[in-house]
Amino acid sequence: MKNRTHFGFKEVDVNEKQSHVKGVFSSVAENYDVMNDAMSMGMHRIWKKILIELSGIENNDKVLDIASGTGDIAKLISREYPSTEVFMTDINMEMLGEGRDRSINESFDKNCHFCQLNGEALPFSDKTFDVITIGFGLRNFTNKEAGIAEMNRCLKDDGRLLILEFSKPKNKTFSKIYDWYSFNVLPKLGSILANDSDSYQYLAESIRMHPDQESLKEMVISSGFNSCRFYNLFNGIVAIHVANKN
Ligand SMILES: C[S@@+](CC[C@H](N)C(=O)[O-])C[C@H]1O[C@@H](n2cnc3c(N)ncnc32)[C@H](O)[C@@H]1O
Repeated sequence: MKNRTHFGFKEVDVNEKQSHVKGVFSSVAENYDVMNDAMSMGMHRIWKKILIELSGIENNDKVLDIASGTGDIAKLISREYPSTEVFMTDINMEMLGEGRDRSINESFDKNCHFCQLNGEALPFSDKTFDVITIGFGLRNFTNKEAGIAEMNRCLKDDGRLLILEFSKPKNKTFSKIYDWYSFNVLPKLGSILANDSDSYQYLAESIRMHPDQESLKEMVISSGFNSCRFYNLFNGIVAIHVANKN
């Protein structure tokens, strides 16, 4: 693996990216939910519901949610499928702590396990899970291919991976407006609502550095999945990739 990678538009040593990412999410953890609603005008809630609809999760499934953060996706799964076993996981203790507290306060902790882990090196045996989900987390990985291969390893033979992530808008005019919004409005919103413009500048930059729909699909296949299809949401600002292990 090469020694340099990107952290937003900056080049950093591969061994340092994780600590930069940790800095961002430790800084935003407390205000993450408010900022998410403000930035996406509440649309992230709809995108996450669509992810669950596409997941094909059934009661009694074992589901791993990677990069759970404050637990939106784990909450939807836990509420809709109360007989599933849901693993709410994140590398960052502050984010996971917010998620775990919320699950207790909002009573969706009964079928949840909580694990602090790195999605690039999963501490589970081969073929453990029926479904793995990851929402807005993959973008932050140092080695995305390694992470996706790990997800493949931990899925049962008929398992599915769902990746919800920012992607590339299809329409050129829309793309220009989105760029303007990302680099002008987002950091200001971060500054006003969370006293933190740098983290939201990183958000905008990391989205631009993330593979587009087709490239991510290829990456998923080359990391071991048999098939992968994607759904564009909001003109491709966000995409959901659904991959089958076999
Ligand atoms: C933008 S938040 C997404 C949270 C939640 N899934 C959602 O959609 O609202 C990204 C999360 O990814 C986590 N993360 C970043 N790198 C990770 C890694 N290598 N393994 C696991 N989690 C990671 C961060 O700590 C952060 O909580």
